[in-house]
Amino acid sequence: MLVEKNVPLQSYNSFGIAARAHTLVRVRSAQGLHALLADQRLGAQPLFVLGGGSNIVLTGDVKPVVLKMEIPGMRLLEETERGWLIEAGAGERWHDLVAWTLQQGWPGLENLALIPGTVGAAPVQNIGAYGVELQDRFHSLVAVDFASGQPFTLDAAQCAFGYRDSVFKHAAPLAAHEGSGLPRGMGLAGRAVITHVRLWLRKDWRPELGYLDLERKRQEEGVAAPTAQQIFDWVCAIRRAKLPDPALIGNAGSFFKNPTVTPEQCQDIIAREPKIVHYPLADGSIKLAAGWLIDACGWKGKTVGRAGVYDKQALVLVNRGTPEDSVTGGEVMTLAKAIQTSVYERFGIRLEPEPVVL
Ligand code: EPU
Repeated sequence: MLVEKNVPLQSYNSFGIAARAHTLVRVRSAQGLHALLADQRLGAQPLFVLGGGSNIVLTGDVKPVVLKMEIPGMRLLEETERGWLIEAGAGERWHDLVAWTLQQGWPGLENLALIPGTVGAAPVQNIGAYGVELQDRFHSLVAVDFASGQPFTLDAAQCAFGYRDSVFKHAAPLAAHEGSGLPRGMGLAGRAVITHVRLWLRKDWRPELGYLDLERKRQEEGVAAPTAQQIFDWVCAIRRAKLPDPALIGNAGSFFKNPTVTPEQCQDIIAREPKIVHYPLADGSIKLAAGWLIDACGWKGKTVGRAGVYDKQALVLVNRGTPEDSVTGGEVMTLAKAIQTSVYERFGIRLEPEPVVL
């Protein structure tokens, strides 16, 4: 177990915010994790799990012990007539897993190409893009309970996936887990860490083209029945055109969740704002495009201090500083609050941040 002190985190968070970890431990195996949790001094302290750092805003130095998850490995666990069961270590880059499965000839993850972050972080916020969410391909995961050091397995229902949500984002127990025998009742936020994720990729694969941008691309290319590789290429092209590459411009992807409203609320807003972008959901509620709301308030391309609103997608806040003089988490949150206030004042809608603010 390698314990490092006073570690710069600037290259470990995709915003590129300069902050330090008082203590950082690299976790490269389940055994390493076990040793850490059994350590009388380290194991007793508050812990913070860091994956790819692509969904966090650091507002200061991190005092909890940072577990930098670096568990490697991608393998086929089982192949049946119906599909492939694959497993990946929490430390693998999500996009590498997507690319690897396609190279093997196993389709299913192509719509989720180029999402930054690690495999272990993917279930935490149930990553999603272009009509597919992690939960649609999820089989199970292995996590380790901080208190007991014991591994346990969760299936999809036990993960309680929602829109950018799971049991790993909640501290309070969820009703879904009552009597399930899982450790101490769940929410698992701050109580466990994911070590491995298993996905089920079906052989009766069909392209998922429901998302407008993808369908447009299909028509432009004149392809009737695209392959998974073609969809992968299109998703990469769409993302590269719309979203900033964190290697060049620091950011944490979408900064706010797309809010949902009742049909009545939506009608009320449409009466005032006929152009509002909205999508009906299966449960009868209506999802509004937060990017549109922010854009409509005139924020696109604006800069406040060293924090900015990306000029091609208003839902993405970016670091307009330099590595030597980077944006602070405080500046990002000041901008975020100003955006929330103006969206609330104009539309009566409260935007909820997506990243974890630390
Ligand atoms: N829009 C504007 N102005 C903007 C941005 C968007 O008018 O500045 C409008 C667009 O015209 C479009 C609508 O808003 O009609 C939706 O925009 P987009 O297709 O870019 O998708 P999104 O809802 O803003 C979501 C996810 C993204 C994901 C894309 C594609 C959330 C919070 N964001 O964005 O996920 O890549 O769909 O599926 O759900 C992320 O979570 O970090 C992320 C990037």
